Amino acid sequence: MRLYNGNCLEALKTLPAKSIGLILTDPPYNIGKAEWDKIENYVEWCGEWLTECQRVLKDNGTLIFWHNDITLSSELLHWISKNTDFVLNSFGLWHKPNFRKLGWSNKSGECTLRSWFNVFEFFFVFINPTAGREWKKTGLDYVYSTPECFKPLKEWYHSELKRLNITKQDIYAKYTEVTGKKPYMPARHYFKDSQFEIPTQSVYESVYIPLGFNKSYEELRPTFNIFDGETYSNYFTADKQNCSNAQLHPCRKPLNILAKLIKTHSRENEIVLDCFMGSGSTGEAAVNLNRDFIGIELDKNYFSIAKDCIENAIKAKNQEDK
Ligand SMILES: C[S@@+](CC[C@H](N)C(=O)[O-])C[C@H]1O[C@@H](n2cnc3c(N)ncnc32)[C@H](O)[C@@H]1O
Repeated sequence: MRLYNGNCLEALKTLPAKSIGLILTDPPYNIGKAEWDKIENYVEWCGEWLTECQRVLKDNGTLIFWHNDITLSSELLHWISKNTDFVLNSFGLWHKPNFRKLGWSNKSGECTLRSWFNVFEFFFVFINPTAGREWKKTGLDYVYSTPECFKPLKEWYHSELKRLNITKQDIYAKYTEVTGKKPYMPARHYFKDSQFEIPTQSVYESVYIPLGFNKSYEELRPTFNIFDGETYSNYFTADKQNCSNAQLHPCRKPLNILAKLIKTHSRENEIVLDCFMGSGSTGEAAVNLNRDFIGIELDKNYFSIAKDCIENAIKAKNQEDK
């Protein structure tokens, strides 16, 4: 963990190129929320840190930033498409269902009665295509070419071999017994690191289940992907328990949503960077998921809150891991 109390436009320049797996950040939206949220030449200013983000991001890395202002977001997206190599991959929504409270607490213009309260914040997901071919490995291509994507599944497979006291030779023999054929190429790659393959349903049910493997084919399915079996849409609400410390910063982001983004877009031990760290919510979520974290925050007070939160998260994690 490295935390900087300073201006990210300077701190980012000290980070090595292509060193960060995921940049997940929550910049000022320039909507006048506080003094730090009033920025002249906003899009050009964003251009400065975005350019640095592109430099420090790994070739296969992801940049995600939050926003909630449609006009400014669209200007920013336009600037990014014209001036960087980032490709907009997708976006998601944090839905804040307490719209009555938001309606009363947010300053609004004269036309309020003819408008809709904005109860969403967006996050925009960009991939970094500066590295030639590798960046194209997203989705299934990435999953199939990255052995650790299937770690839980492979660990389960090996623990089952042990429990049942069998070897892969026993599996091949069963395969031949059932099909009358020698194990063909894909069968030899089932659950392996190299050229990972998953058995077809009929092979699994006629070979693995009779040998005693303890999960049904359907039960295996959730561990096929890297998302812990949850269904993912781009629409999120905050878990109640993650809102309890919202008083730490007026723009604090819910830990459960940050955790989903970090899990989906980075690997364990990769570095997650938040260059507008505020009270450190991204850092907390990153630490909880065994990611390294770099955080930058200009304001002394928020910096010290962030430092405490992240240090506490590390302590709790160490305790849990003991
Ligand atoms: C939207 S808030 C981030 C809140 C954070 N997501 C949280 O959960 O607490 C943006 C933060 O960026 C900080 N900030 C503004 N300009 C900055 C700069 N140039 N460098 C670093 N931090 C900056 C502000 O002080 C503010 O705390």
